[in-house]
Amino acid sequence: MSSSPRILLIGTGRMAYQLGHSLLQQKADLVGVAGRNTTALKALARFLDRRAYALNDPLPKADLILLAVSDDAIAEVAAALPTTDAVVAHTAGAKDMDVLAPHAHRGVLWPIQSLSHGAPVDMREVPIVVDGNDERALGMLDELARRLSDSVLQLPHARRQHIHLAAVLASNFPVFLLGEARRLLREQQLPPDLLMPLWRMTAAKAAAIGPAEALTGPARRGDLETIQKHLDLLTPESDLRRAYDLLSELILHAHGHREPSGK
Ligand SMILES: NC(=O)c1ccc[n+]([C@@H]2O[C@H](COP(=O)([O-])OP(=O)(O)OC[C@H]3O[C@@H](n4cnc5c(N)ncnc54)[C@H](OP(=O)(O)O)[C@@H]3O)[C@@H](O)[C@H]2O)c1
Repeated sequence: MSSSPRILLIGTGRMAYQLGHSLLQQKADLVGVAGRNTTALKALARFLDRRAYALNDPLPKADLILLAVSDDAIAEVAAALPTTDAVVAHTAGAKDMDVLAPHAHRGVLWPIQSLSHGAPVDMREVPIVVDGNDERALGMLDELARRLSDSVLQLPHARRQHIHLAAVLASNFPVFLLGEARRLLREQQLPPDLLMPLWRMTAAKAAAIGPAEALTGPARRGDLETIQKHLDLLTPESDLRRAYDLLSELILHAHGHREPSGK
């Protein structure tokens, strides 16, 4: 197979935007983008300067079809594609490649990164996990991933699932909690941006010295009175209060303090 396969990108969301940009950065042969959302499709095709295809239109010839659609839509979108010799791959960390049946050559290309709209991400620094059901699929995806990133791993679904779970814990939950913390400040007429230097420096510090060393705060110190005060302040926020309580308990246990009393 040529080292520059013709690639069709399907999907018009966050992954398609970032992956499409990285493919062009590495001068990959992107033959077009396809999607069901006409407005988003036009915008992405314009951004990537490539032709747009509605999903029910005849699609261009491609050696590799990358499905950057929601996890739950992968099987449906794959099943609607004509079966050809092309490698069909998805970009999900949580899905097996079997959802791509009936395509003969199938695989996965999963960047371990939180991707959003806005500034394009430098994919060279992002680890990419690949998998394939045969030599052709794995070879093509591995080669493409190495063009995009300096860090490429070949891992089966069972291993990817653990990484995906860990990525949700390390990235999605903290970002959600940041949003909740900003909301609490706004509700108290306090500026939410006060938290941003803390957020940025904490992430940089944890990456530099490791989370065990970087962790501070009342539960890390075992300051049970402070924890109780926070729980009191969270009385009107019962779900967030439960989350605070449980996370504090995990930290207290991990650092050898007794559980907080009076909950
Ligand atoms: N974003 C990330 O951080 C990230 C990181 C690693 C892996 N991934 C993987 O990348 C894939 C795409 O995620 P995303 O973050 O780009 O999601 P997203 O921004 O929500 O975009 C989802 C895309 O899927 C399309 N879609 C949903 N259901 C569809 C259907 N039934 N038929 C056709 N198209 C459909 C959506 O079209 P509509 O606009 O019409 O709904 C949209 O274009 C997922 O498998 C995800 O696991 C994402």
